[in-house]
Amino acid sequence: MTKARGVFVTFEGPEGSGKSTQLRTLAAKLRSAGRDVLETAEPGGTPIGMQIRRVLLDAANQELRPTTELLLMFAARAQNVEEWILPALAQGHVVLCDRFTDSTLVYQGVARGLGAELVYEVDRIACRGLVPDLTLVIDIDTETGLARAHRRNARTKDVETRIDEHDISFHRKVREAYRQLATDEPKRVTLIDGGRAEAAVAADVWSAVGPLL
Ligand code: TMP
Repeated sequence: MTKARGVFVTFEGPEGSGKSTQLRTLAAKLRSAGRDVLETAEPGGTPIGMQIRRVLLDAANQELRPTTELLLMFAARAQNVEEWILPALAQGHVVLCDRFTDSTLVYQGVARGLGAELVYEVDRIACRGLVPDLTLVIDIDTETGLARAHRRNARTKDVETRIDEHDISFHRKVREAYRQLATDEPKRVTLIDGGRAEAAVAADVWSAVGPLL
């Protein structure tokens, strides 16, 4: 991989953590500070990735197997990395991505039980060595996060609920895996308490990102 000049920041967290709102707030602040910003999300991002997202999250697709799920997450990611992320980094832009390989690690690797080794093996093919410069995990108590996510799904009549409607023990594993990740990789991963007012969370996001810019 050629050395990228931009900065790659990912947002992670359990359902209902508020990470997408925080990503948008950060993008707006960076733009007002004169930075070029690419906002993207996974699964999805590119038009092809959005088609893959539909297959992954449609609540009707109950037969989807864990290995298929893992490979489709990485298929969407490979497209995003090649089509959008690497070109933006090469131009010196700040890339903000809502979820990346850490999501696959915690959801498929840990909560589904496929294992970290398999996740990193496919990551090597799909991401070609691209690792975020900084990952912000917005932490939230499982019950609070799920209640927020369910309210949002009901409000938007969302049908992309296959994964977030799993039982609570699945989501507890997701949260614990994120907290463990922050302990295991303290240099790259910053844990932020998402259970506070939006502005307080945004202030912590800003302090974490500042040193990179
Ligand atoms: P979102 O609600 O943040 O858009 O994420 C969509 C769902 O996909 C969410 O339940 C987390 C799940 N997901 C995985 O299971 N593995 C992954 O690699 C990614 C990117 C998302």
